[in-house]
Amino acid sequence: MTRFAFIVHPLHISDVARKYSFTRHLPERWVEAALAVMSPQYCGKMTGIRSLTGAETEGWLVGCPLTARQLLNGNVEKATRKIVDACNLAASLGAEVVGLGAFTSIVGDKGLTIAERVEIGVTTGNSYTTATAIEGALLAAERMGHVAAESQAVILGATGSIGKICARMLAPQVGGLTLVGRRQDALAELAASIEAKGHVRAETDIAAALREADIVVAVTSAVEAVVEPEHLKPGAVVCDVARPRDVSRRVIEQRDDVLVIEGGAVAIPGPVECDFDFGFPPGMAYACMCETMILALEGRTGDYSLGSELKQEQVEEMAALGRKHGFTLGGFRSFERQLTDEDIERVRERAQARRA
Ligand SMILES: NC(=O)c1ccc[n+]([C@@H]2O[C@H](COP(=O)([O-])OP(=O)(O)OC[C@H]3O[C@@H](n4cnc5c(N)ncnc54)[C@H](OP(=O)(O)O)[C@@H]3O)[C@@H](O)[C@H]2O)c1
Repeated sequence: MTRFAFIVHPLHISDVARKYSFTRHLPERWVEAALAVMSPQYCGKMTGIRSLTGAETEGWLVGCPLTARQLLNGNVEKATRKIVDACNLAASLGAEVVGLGAFTSIVGDKGLTIAERVEIGVTTGNSYTTATAIEGALLAAERMGHVAAESQAVILGATGSIGKICARMLAPQVGGLTLVGRRQDALAELAASIEAKGHVRAETDIAAALREADIVVAVTSAVEAVVEPEHLKPGAVVCDVARPRDVSRRVIEQRDDVLVIEGGAVAIPGPVECDFDFGFPPGMAYACMCETMILALEGRTGDYSLGSELKQEQVEEMAALGRKHGFTLGGFRSFERQLTDEDIERVRERAQARRA
């Protein structure tokens, strides 16, 4: 059996209190200072992953004690060294391939340097994340009554590793596409390189981009939410892939006429058990974790999905391997809650009423 590991980290300082409750009462900068000197830690084990082919795998969750803000704004070399230490801990536990979770996959050159420095295979998991984000966004849009080919789509974080390949793959399937980021030049260059039947435009103003959006794929590396209730039109579907989230909790509190789903929520085949709570119910995981499991089930211990230029073939290969092993979209989830058919129907009816 080829075994895997996945590197997790606290997204916000408040996540640290889930493991060390006393930190709730400490000033944030003290907790950050403590994290900065802590070593990577064993968090838990996931067992029982069994493919439709009969292949099996199991793996470990290893914690890299740095928040998203520390990983994004801190010293890149120090962060890289800590992630490498986490990967080495994973290897010492028996993993032959390791997935970089959340911002550990973004630091520096998106896994390339880390892969050079460790002995086992490394992936960001971004290929399967892209495949499931597109599948989930289009399926949710259909359920809300949108015809993809006539819809206006927006990608937030379009110049990023996931955003760029999402843009290339989504463009031919929608009526129009707006690419959003903070650098106009990079956005314009990307827009010009995309062949699509509809209009592809570049925009740095999130509010302006979202005003007419039917389908939104949110995949920025912003540390705080960038999508607010007032940005969205009735009936909009937002697939929030970003961790930390791009969509403010205020959106579901104040807008019962828009559908927000978590991107990359995948059901794992087999009698899965996990003794570490990473925010999903048993038997479900983020797509990036699932890519790591899929590589292990395939016995592939080389690197995958590294760097900022993912290829469509990689995304399609991962989607096909996911199907082969029995990984499926795990229904629709929104802010830690599984959505029922009735929930979605209610959102659709309210959107119709507001549009009338
Ligand atoms: N759900 C899952 O399974 C899963 C799997 C992997 C990754 N993720 C998450 O996906 C997100 C993106 O990952 P990635 O590897 O694609 O990151 P990335 O390559 O660093 O790309 C991030 C993009 O976000 C843009 N951006 C950052 N801050 C922004 C802001 N305030 N407003 C607008 N755009 C902004 C950046 O554009 P500019 O710098 O050009 O502005 C860049 O295009 C992260 O949150 C990560 O944790 C989720």
